[in-house]
Amino acid sequence: MAIIRSYTSTDLGSLYAIAVATGDSGSDASREFRYLELLGHVYAAPYAIFEPELALVIEDQHGVAGYCVGALQTRAFEPLLNLRWWPALQKRYPLCPLSGSGWRSAADDAIIQLIHHPPRSPYWPAEDYPSHLHINLLPRLKGQGHGRRLLTAWHERSRAMGSTGFHLGVDPRNTLAIGFYQAMGLDRLLPATTTAPDDVIWFGARDLHR
Ligand SMILES: CC(C)(COP(=O)(O)OP(=O)(O)OC[C@H]1O[C@@H](n2cnc3c(N)ncnc32)[C@H](O)[C@@H]1OP(=O)(O)O)[C@@H](O)C(=O)NCCC(=O)NCCS
Repeated sequence: MAIIRSYTSTDLGSLYAIAVATGDSGSDASREFRYLELLGHVYAAPYAIFEPELALVIEDQHGVAGYCVGALQTRAFEPLLNLRWWPALQKRYPLCPLSGSGWRSAADDAIIQLIHHPPRSPYWPAEDYPSHLHINLLPRLKGQGHGRRLLTAWHERSRAMGSTGFHLGVDPRNTLAIGFYQAMGLDRLLPATTTAPDDVIWFGARDLHR
């Protein structure tokens, strides 16, 4: 039996481990990175650290095996990270590696680019669905209804905190997650302009199918 509970600071290492273990469109990305912590720096840790009340984990007898983290107000969260999260990481991972610091993989470089040019939700999801989230389960918990339970719990928590809707971005190659979001009743959000980049598929919801 897996239980869903609030995040505590001792879970941070598990969040980093899960982020990379599920970071290649839902599959293990560990082999692609030299710096295994990079995905967690972008997609997990800042949410847990700056919005811990909106961070949930799911734990079974082997330990923490999934999380759902997010930001209540995306448009306030982004400048907060610009001030308090990205600058230290930009120093730690310069765009041009210091001599003698060893090789970097293409995946390392791609995430380091994001650290220097932080991801920002486009206006069309962020205006109407102000919160956003990331949900990730280790393989041992997938496909048993835990994603539904975790997303529902996160949604209820965010509503209790005043959220009027949430959005999320998914890699188009992550067809399993796309099927999950559709099954959960999220709407695909389309940009107003056809020239918008299509490297991310955006979903949003004010309510979930139960
Ligand atoms: C995506 C993820 C959170 C889904 O969680 P899950 O526990 O596997 O999904 P569940 O078993 O709770 O499925 C919930 C419902 O969605 C449906 N569903 C799940 N995946 C589906 C798919 N690919 N196609 C159609 N329906 C799907 C299930 O049938 C179920 O329907 P039901 O409740 O009506 O019976 C989980 O698989 C995961 O963490 N994947 C790896 C990380 C990842 O890709 N995260 C998303 C990044 S954007």
